[in-house]
Amino acid sequence: MKYFLFICSLAFTLMITGCGTGDSSSKPARESNENGQAQKLAISSASSSLKKPNLEETVVIANPESVTALVNKKHQLPESYQPSDLVYADVPFIFSEKIEKRMLRKPAAQALEELFQDAGKAGISLLGVSGYRSHERQKKLFVFYAKRDGEEKASTYSAYPGTSEHETGLAIDVTGGNGICAAADCFADTPEARWLSKNAYQYGFIIRYPAGEEQVTGYKYEPWHLRYVGKKAAASIFNQYVTLENYASKKKDQSKFYNPFSLL
Ligand code: DAL
Ligand code: ZN
Repeated sequence: MKYFLFICSLAFTLMITGCGTGDSSSKPARESNENGQAQKLAISSASSSLKKPNLEETVVIANPESVTALVNKKHQLPESYQPSDLVYADVPFIFSEKIEKRMLRKPAAQALEELFQDAGKAGISLLGVSGYRSHERQKKLFVFYAKRDGEEKASTYSAYPGTSEHETGLAIDVTGGNGICAAADCFADTPEARWLSKNAYQYGFIIRYPAGEEQVTGYKYEPWHLRYVGKKAAASIFNQYVTLENYASKKKDQSKFYNPFSLL
């Protein structure tokens, strides 16, 4: 009985304080300036209670408004970044409330509306699950998952606050019309997921975290996570079977090679 009470009290304490958090050994992130050079940057206080994987290699991106901006474990958004053109996407969601996660940046919302309409004409019924998330919302989500599964496991499927594409307003999780496999692995085997993987690029979206690319993207396969990059980039990424990481690094190489000013 004594041991039972001890274990219960330990579990309760961990629940309250947050198992796996409270680490103070986090290193500063770096901020890239116009020339791509890194500058030291303090970690935002909102994230200071979490360990950040590879934090010493993280840069703050200089182009958060670009639709092709690369945001991942090594490329974080500037502190307090908020997209300036958020609108409510006029598509059905798995919930009825008019809340933040119905929003996307305007070009992404318009493209999503077209995608949903054409999917419907093809007999594919889709629902939105989660679009834009504020930094605070992403933090709450990540902390929740980190407490539930441990921070290391959580970081294989959820982004550390400041590094989620949902904070850009350019990403949305979607599911099939019955909502059964919302943000769940079973979505991969649905006609809706197959339709998206073949057609989303025509509307400027990519399946951002493809199967087998976990080492490149940093995340497990998410057939439901669409990222708006615009039609040109989406077609290029789709036709070359590459990730946004590969696409972004090729663009960088090309601009170094072709732009004589980059050598100055
Ligand atoms: N699930 C993706 C990685 C996110 O949290 O942004
Ligand atoms: Zn997502």
